[in-house]
Amino acid sequence: MRDGQGRVIDYLRISITDRCNFRCLYCMPSEGVRLLDAREILSYEELLRVIRVLGQYGVSKIRLTGGEPLVRKGVVNFIRNIRAIGTVKDLSMTTNGSLLRDMAPELKAAGLDRVNISLDTLDPERFTYITDKGNLTDVLKGIESAVNAGLTPVKLNVVLTEVLTEKDVLYFIKLVYNCPIAVRFIEYMPVGRCGVKAGTGIAAIKSMLNGSGYGQLEPESAIKGNGPAKYYRLPRASGMFGFITPISDHFCQYCNRIRLTADGKLKPCLLSDQEIDMKAVLRGGGDDRKIAELFFKAVQEKPVRHRLGNNQHGTGLAREMFQVGG
Ligand code: GTP
Ligand code: 5AD
Ligand code: SF4
Repeated sequence: MRDGQGRVIDYLRISITDRCNFRCLYCMPSEGVRLLDAREILSYEELLRVIRVLGQYGVSKIRLTGGEPLVRKGVVNFIRNIRAIGTVKDLSMTTNGSLLRDMAPELKAAGLDRVNISLDTLDPERFTYITDKGNLTDVLKGIESAVNAGLTPVKLNVVLTEVLTEKDVLYFIKLVYNCPIAVRFIEYMPVGRCGVKAGTGIAAIKSMLNGSGYGQLEPESAIKGNGPAKYYRLPRASGMFGFITPISDHFCQYCNRIRLTADGKLKPCLLSDQEIDMKAVLRGGGDDRKIAELFFKAVQEKPVRHRLGNNQHGTGLAREMFQVGG
């Protein structure tokens, strides 16, 4: 399905829960949050119906997000059922990695293709600070398990905040040199009521990589993915680096996606409050044609670009990141 700007929308990001076992400072506000009741959340049957209908209109890439998608019971079976529909060419997940050590093999067996894992620092104390509750060792074991299970390419999401140090960047360089992993540095998006200090900028990170003695970054395009990252490789490195720049160099002109929140709202854009109520149709006896019409509406109403600036606090957006899934 093509929107008014000629952008092909074939990618649906589904937030399957707003719950999370972490509380990252840039994602959940520290003053506490209201979580959804179980009955407010779309059931797996409702989600499968949406995937099946949108699959008939070219949506062939699905990413499961949260909160933390692996805390929702039944997710492995859900993945198996998504695969059984037969329209999904790329089925991926964005996770905090904490539960992957045990779950990676069964996720792969059920049909998940690949995972992106959040990892903002390699320092155990800073990691626990930024995630509030997270344990770095669990996540590192989760990453290893994901690679071994073949949930590849494994990509690491590093949001650029105050916790990232030069030591971390040097560690990431060694990691990428030796392992076929993609490390993506992401500009912090100040949505909702979260407040965290943005860290080193993308330009400075690029200079650190270029000055690391491993050679100069070269553009790279050969990596499976549907997202906004621009990739580069250091000569002879096994893995690569990516840069995601929603603030300094937005990528809205290439946007290929819409989102579905856990409480059943279609979002034409991550950084807009505009929402279309899919749940009302799913629960009000609407037929498949009606579901398709809501998808068409979301595509037609996609904004040309977002208007988020680099204001560090209070952008006025109603939803926090954990309620959309990034
Ligand atoms: P790949 O298919 O592996 O390329 O996935 P992805 O990069 O699209 O997904 P992921 O969930 O790992 O997102 C990485 C970062 O990009 C997160 O910080 C997201 O919030 C951000 N991001 C993803 N899609 C969009 C988007 O449409 N707009 C903006 N502004 N940021 C996005
Ligand atoms: N800015 C940028 N990225 C964010 N993420 C969560 N909140 C933000 C934010 N405010 C990232 C997480 C996760 C992905 C879903 O989005 O690190 O990897
Ligand atoms: Fe949880 Fe991910 Fe949000 Fe961190 S970024 S609080 S891990 S949903």
